[in-house]
Amino acid sequence: MWRSFAEHLHFVATADDAGYEELRRTLDQLDFALGTHANRLFYLATPPAAYEAIVKAIGEHRLRGETGWARIVVEKPFGHDRSSALELNEVVHTVFREDEVFRIDHYLGKETVQNILVMRFSNGIFEPIWNRQYVDHVQITVAETIGVEERAGYYEQAGAMRDIVQNHLLQLLALVSMEPPAAFDDKAVRDEKVKVLRALRRMTGEDLAMNAVRGQYTRGFIEGVPVPGYREEPGVAPDSRTETYVALKVWVDNWRWEGIPFYVRTGKRLPKHSTEIAIQFRVAPHQLFSREALAGLEPNALVLRIQPDEGISLRFGAKVPVQGIRIRAVNMDFDYGASFMVDAPDAYETLILDALRGDATLFTRHDEVDQQWTFVDPIISGWAQSPQGLALYEAGTWGPTEADALIERDGRKWRKA
Ligand code: BG6
Repeated sequence: MWRSFAEHLHFVATADDAGYEELRRTLDQLDFALGTHANRLFYLATPPAAYEAIVKAIGEHRLRGETGWARIVVEKPFGHDRSSALELNEVVHTVFREDEVFRIDHYLGKETVQNILVMRFSNGIFEPIWNRQYVDHVQITVAETIGVEERAGYYEQAGAMRDIVQNHLLQLLALVSMEPPAAFDDKAVRDEKVKVLRALRRMTGEDLAMNAVRGQYTRGFIEGVPVPGYREEPGVAPDSRTETYVALKVWVDNWRWEGIPFYVRTGKRLPKHSTEIAIQFRVAPHQLFSREALAGLEPNALVLRIQPDEGISLRFGAKVPVQGIRIRAVNMDFDYGASFMVDAPDAYETLILDALRGDATLFTRHDEVDQQWTFVDPIISGWAQSPQGLALYEAGTWGPTEADALIERDGRKWRKA
């Protein structure tokens, strides 16, 4: 199968006008030879700085074809801030209509991320308690053990805020906090996500100083192996102030979530590779049991394990089987691997197929990207004004102590993800 597929792969280098002309000729010849109808999916997996020029070239060299459909997939980050995202959007819209633009955020292609909507909206039992009456707070963690790897050129400009928070993390937050869409289609789902993204309280001044922490890893150990600090990585400036860790306390200012904090964090070179969303519930309103009996009880939590070890668990208290009452936290566990016994498709497989089919439900619309930048821009510019606010953390630890203080101030703790 691969051999016959590979015969249809062609490579054309398109660095200049002559290259784009050659690409057009190649595409036209293929249409003619194979009797295809010029359906074209352009996929920009290039440095973001090249996006505008490529889109313009697609337009100028009439690469869209005339008889079929044309779509463009654009990798993140879409823009460097809100204004550059708007500008890029305008350029893209000179060649492609919005319904032909597929802004990719590969987290949306992950099975477990799609399952957030399935879990919330195909079941009757979760939605009634999914609100300020029953939820105490929500924690979202995107923890990585890897460092910056060979991507310093990109990462130095991006930092964890643009690399993870602006896209993956805010998408997870949107999916977990959005209102139920009326249908499972690209318009209804994305309309609801935009609404909730718009409800995120903007952070400035005092709020920013209290509720946003950024850090950078220094040398340390990952699984017992020594690793260099961020500033010692190849391609990183020795005095770099780029953040490799972010923790935020986020408020969703709407009816459902009023007063319920969302604590979110992401970092590189943390002790564990783990992405999870934990919904922590309020404690029982009245306690029958003695303080000693309750010593082993932890707050009820529903944990969506996005990766690895994909699954969902519900933590609650159970009676320890001894004389008298002793209570301990136990987990009721759903495990993807054990339940379905199939390997989930890779996020990119799902998304590329969706783009070929023209289904944009799992891609971000321009107004979502716009709201995401609207939320992160003031944080990034606030930080730029106080460069001394970058906290350091040793590789292999759970981030700077300032991040612990951010949540412990509220009498809560980060989960051991
Ligand atoms: C990418 C970021 O979008 O997501 C990387 O640019 C990050 O820095 C990666 O490592 C994480 O993706 P995943 O699928 O491994 O969680």
